Amino acid sequence: MQDLRISLTDRCNFRCQYCMPAEVFGEHYEFLPKPALLTFEEITRLCSVFSSMGIRKIRLTGGEPLLRKNTPKLVGMIRSGTQIEEVTLTTNGAMLRRYAMELKNQGLSRVSISLDSLNDDVFREMNGSSIGLPDVLDGIDAASAAGFHPIKINCVVVRGKNDQGVLDMVEHFRHTGHVLRFIEFMDVGTRNNWEMESVISSEELISMISVKYPLEPLPQNYLGEVAGRYAYKDGAGEIGFISSVTQPFCVNCTRARLTPDGRLVTCLFAASGTSLRDPMRAGASDEDILELIRGVWSRRTDRYSEERSAQTNLNEWSAARSKIEMYQLGG
Ligand code: GTP
Ligand code: 5AD
Ligand code: SF4
Repeated sequence: MQDLRISLTDRCNFRCQYCMPAEVFGEHYEFLPKPALLTFEEITRLCSVFSSMGIRKIRLTGGEPLLRKNTPKLVGMIRSGTQIEEVTLTTNGAMLRRYAMELKNQGLSRVSISLDSLNDDVFREMNGSSIGLPDVLDGIDAASAAGFHPIKINCVVVRGKNDQGVLDMVEHFRHTGHVLRFIEFMDVGTRNNWEMESVISSEELISMISVKYPLEPLPQNYLGEVAGRYAYKDGAGEIGFISSVTQPFCVNCTRARLTPDGRLVTCLFAASGTSLRDPMRAGASDEDILELIRGVWSRRTDRYSEERSAQTNLNEWSAARSKIEMYQLGG
């Protein structure tokens, strides 16, 4: 285990079709009640326990992590109260204008921002909210002005939805120093109507982009890095491709995940997790929790994406599996 991803909340101000579609997560959908969520003190304590196992990197996700009240304060608590050296954040960017500077001041190391299209109509259609593109572009600028570098821009490509805008994205982010990363649409959760036919492979994207902007591969930053890195041959910077459907990387997976209610989950496609919150609230010591985590991790056999690759009836196989939803895991 090398890094831990913590989902701070199951709520989001977007309704991305590939994650929490508006038809399912309407006005009456019941999100977790506040007492069910890990408190900042509990999260910081767990970070300390994980750091005693060698974890040095934490990613805060959601839902939308900036919807949790005072997320910058949590960043500060983790940085000053634990051995964690790198705290990063994955956000939809809509509230970054407000929080970028504070996050930087509290010691956030890096930020990844999700952005699926530069066409406002396509953007709104995919993200199912009344929040428009300018807020996210503003958020990216605010993060840059606050000193975050490099900023990673995550774009999930869904065939027939935003694939026509891929080159616009490339052209917008070349020469900016931000690293655009295209993500293959994944069958996470059970509610996004995933089918293999909607996936555009990284290979297809790379050939399409290379016609106009030749690319060359770059070495991995670290073993288990999810994105394949490329450089524009003309010196315009870096671009990445996350190919978890067509080129699964389970064999090198070193990520553990915590749900907002404190369940430890060992795979993005797992059916359930092990509560760390309940034993903590029942008085378990740090050593007890450490033992619990070690046990769960050592019994881990997850390799969902590799198993999926071996199926002939991919769509049916995927739909039949029970899985935790993406907004409880944050990618
Ligand atoms: P850094 O290298 O620290 O920048 O983080 P990262 O590359 O892991 O970035 P990020 O956390 O933004 O991950 C990018 C996306 O990759 C996620 O949003 C997911 O869509 C996908 N991803 C991350 N981890 C996994 C994984 O374990 N399995 C699969 N299948 N996809 C993953
Ligand atoms: N497939 C691929 N990526 C996804 N994300 C959310 N749902 C999916 C999916 N079904 C991405 C978001 C964000 C990150 C947290 O995960 O766009 O960048
Ligand atoms: Fe890790 Fe599961 Fe993703 Fe494979 S499918 S890379 S095991 S989270």
